[in-house]
Amino acid sequence: MSITTFAVAGATGRLGRHVVDVLTERGHRVVPMSRATGVDIITGEGLAEALTGVEVIIDVASWHSSEQEAATEFFRTSARNLHEYGQRAGVARIAMASIIGADKATAGFLAAKKVHEELLLSGPLSVRILRAAQFHEFVGQLLDWQQGDVAYIPALPTQLVACRTVAEELVDLTLDPGAPVPGTPIPEIAGPRKEIMAEAAALLGARRSIKVIGVDGSGMPDAETAANGGFLPGPHAKLAGPTFKEWLGTQP
Ligand SMILES: NC(=O)c1ccc[n+]([C@@H]2O[C@H](COP(=O)([O-])OP(=O)(O)OC[C@H]3O[C@@H](n4cnc5c(N)ncnc54)[C@H](OP(=O)(O)O)[C@@H]3O)[C@@H](O)[C@H]2O)c1
Repeated sequence: MSITTFAVAGATGRLGRHVVDVLTERGHRVVPMSRATGVDIITGEGLAEALTGVEVIIDVASWHSSEQEAATEFFRTSARNLHEYGQRAGVARIAMASIIGADKATAGFLAAKKVHEELLLSGPLSVRILRAAQFHEFVGQLLDWQQGDVAYIPALPTQLVACRTVAEELVDLTLDPGAPVPGTPIPEIAGPRKEIMAEAAALLGARRSIKVIGVDGSGMPDAETAANGGFLPGPHAKLAGPTFKEWLGTQP
């Protein structure tokens, strides 16, 4: 593969920093895009300049809370801007990270991701999507949101995956020259085994002196679907380590 110039939207985020690492290790040129690097994909500040000479955009930017309407508005605007500015700059393709189960969601952040997928796919640029399970790195965010020494975390099934693993798969998919075959499912990446979110959070909580109490998650959007395993990876998903416990063992 020849050297390609990528712009990474959300380059400083949990996933984005690994995407930047993987691209850099493979010898590609990377333009990191986030407000911290002076590029705002919502207001457009710095976006035209950042996309000059870029061939591929990887969109791993995100809204900072789980609130559906605000997240939907963020993804609606970011999708429009990345297509518009990207087309003007001569970008060939956009690749994005979505979440497993987005297609089944009726509410919450997952429903916002469904809109994100639909708007990006509506063009004009060609788009590739990778749906990932919840990240190992996201478990800490769940604890942070509760801000105390006791955290109530849903005891729901998930198949946690490491951001590095997702980043490698996303870069591979982005560089795959073939177009998606009509009728084939959107590719998925997940960790090697099913976990219970509250149990994973308890492992991390023990390191941070936070007591984790598992709750049934009944107040959450699409809780019944989640409890029945409806947001677990499909049979076509690629499963790859490390497990949450193995990953935790590598964290400082
Ligand atoms: N978290 C999960 O478990 C999970 C699972 C599967 C898929 N995903 C998807 O993976 C993607 C990345 O998620 P993440 O958890 O890595 O996100 P994150 O850690 O919250 O990072 C968000 C990134 O977006 C950037 N950003 C926010 N507003 C911006 C703006 N207006 N202009 C430019 N950049 C902006 C942030 O940088 P600045 O603040 O500097 O702007 C940051 O780099 C998202 O699409 C998410 O839906 C997440």
